[in-house]
Amino acid sequence: MTSLDRARDRLVFALDIADPEEALACARSLSGTLTWMKVATTLFTRGGAPLVSQLRQMGFSVFLDLKFHDIPDQVQGACRAAAGLGVGLMTVHASGGRAMLEGAAFGAAQGARDAGCPAPRVLAVTVLTSLDGSDLADIGVERAVEDQVLALARLAQDSGCGGIVASPRELSLLRPALARPFGILTPGIRPLGAAVGDQKRVTTPGDAIRGGADWLVVGRPIRKAPDRAAAATAILEEMAEAEADA
Ligand code: C5P
Repeated sequence: MTSLDRARDRLVFALDIADPEEALACARSLSGTLTWMKVATTLFTRGGAPLVSQLRQMGFSVFLDLKFHDIPDQVQGACRAAAGLGVGLMTVHASGGRAMLEGAAFGAAQGARDAGCPAPRVLAVTVLTSLDGSDLADIGVERAVEDQVLALARLAQDSGCGGIVASPRELSLLRPALARPFGILTPGIRPLGAAVGDQKRVTTPGDAIRGGADWLVVGRPIRKAPDRAAAATAILEEMAEAEADA
């Protein structure tokens, strides 16, 4: 496996296009360049399971980013169903608590077994980066944001989740505290010179790899590029180079 192939296993394209046909056309334009597609709530609500199946048929691995948060029984069932679609990564909210997280991991393993496919990783979202300390206080959490992030990450690890979603600025706090194979997936990635958009705190692909991220999620820098495949390849090359010095 070349270093570019290894980078390909770690780069997730955020397929944030609301229309399923347009989303599939975009995915098709990246076939052969990228491996992973992230399907989030807007696209899934429109395109549903058939869209996931079509991406799988095109040969993509799918990250189903639906951030489940409900009673344990519901989340277990949802993760079982997602695993049955053949997705490789999925998300839940760590604040749903231990029983819900354990249910998620159990449901994902069960769904994969039923479908005869490899077990997907359940990733836990700790504190949404749209929340700050005063938002946490509003919902009764008095701890500092970083303390809450670390506490929820540890809870996810103890409960059998496969990793967490974290902002790149949290990598230096989280990576030393959470040994691999527990994984860290990070959005907020901008190659040097790319538009930052609404992302407030960004990191380059190379710095995220050197900081200990296992997967990077990148959307607009690829989606809005005049040549998407070329933009994706440049990011893969930067990741491969960083991996060599990591
Ligand atoms: O277009 P961009 O590269 O900013 O896309 C990043 C992806 O990661 C989007 O799908 C977005 O929902 C997700 N995300 C994020 N920031 C977070 C958490 C998730 O940008 N803090």
